[in-house]
Amino acid sequence: MPFPARHPVGVRRAVRAVAGYPPSVEDVRRVVVQAGYDRMAREYLDYIAAIEGDPRLRFLAELQNRLRPGSTVLDLGCGAGEPCTRLLAQEHDVVGVDISDGQLRLAQEMASHARFVQADLAHFQVLPETLDAVTAFYSLTHVPRDEHARVLLDVATWLKPGGLLLLTLSARGETDGMQDDFIGVPMYFSSYGPDTNRVLLDRAGFELLIDKVVEMHEPGGQSSFQWVLAQRKALQSERV
Ligand SMILES: C[S@@+](CC[C@H](N)C(=O)[O-])C[C@H]1O[C@@H](n2cnc3c(N)ncnc32)[C@H](O)[C@@H]1O
Repeated sequence: MPFPARHPVGVRRAVRAVAGYPPSVEDVRRVVVQAGYDRMAREYLDYIAAIEGDPRLRFLAELQNRLRPGSTVLDLGCGAGEPCTRLLAQEHDVVGVDISDGQLRLAQEMASHARFVQADLAHFQVLPETLDAVTAFYSLTHVPRDEHARVLLDVATWLKPGGLLLLTLSARGETDGMQDDFIGVPMYFSSYGPDTNRVLLDRAGFELLIDKVVEMHEPGGQSSFQWVLAQRKALQSERV
């Protein structure tokens, strides 16, 4: 790597140095996700506004309480950036990543203090040990689950020791397939259940600070997500 691992580098520079290539679109699952979120970009904002019992601000506050102002934060699958990317960018150095151009156009309006990159979060690169926090609100559930272990390992390498990961995972158990109608478009979902999620996080080197399953009511029906706030453990070689 061109930078020493502990060189203090802002998130924009960390990301720009090695990423920014267009998302991979040869995988039909990604095409469905990308095209779907492009098509219903505005409708998605109305949809989340209509959710009852969405705990995202509560968990975002748990993260914010542990971060110093000016922290380097990467928001994976940031969508339209509302409200989480916007709130993070009011205090921190934030880059949002999303596969959908339509979502990113809105995010640029909503969270103008953040910088955005169109990319596939599962094929993204960041300089090692440059981030204070990574967030992924309701996005990993659109990435094929056989890639989740590697994504979590990648995230662990990007975080500084002690860095934080705030993540929404599905709590509904094993899913892998297309849904005909999600906010008016076909959509791909993929997930493990909470037990497997915990194993993957542990193997990637995370300690769970918060691990809660929360139900909420979406316009499409009742749903259940596993919320995790995890901390990157120090590597064996870093322990004294
Ligand atoms: C349910 S929305 C969540 C958006 C936002 N995080 C929020 O909480 O409102 C999922 C977002 O993840 C993005 N996404 C899905 N798969 C992705 C991938 N492989 N790489 C980057 N973004 C992805 C979608 O385009 C969409 O904007």
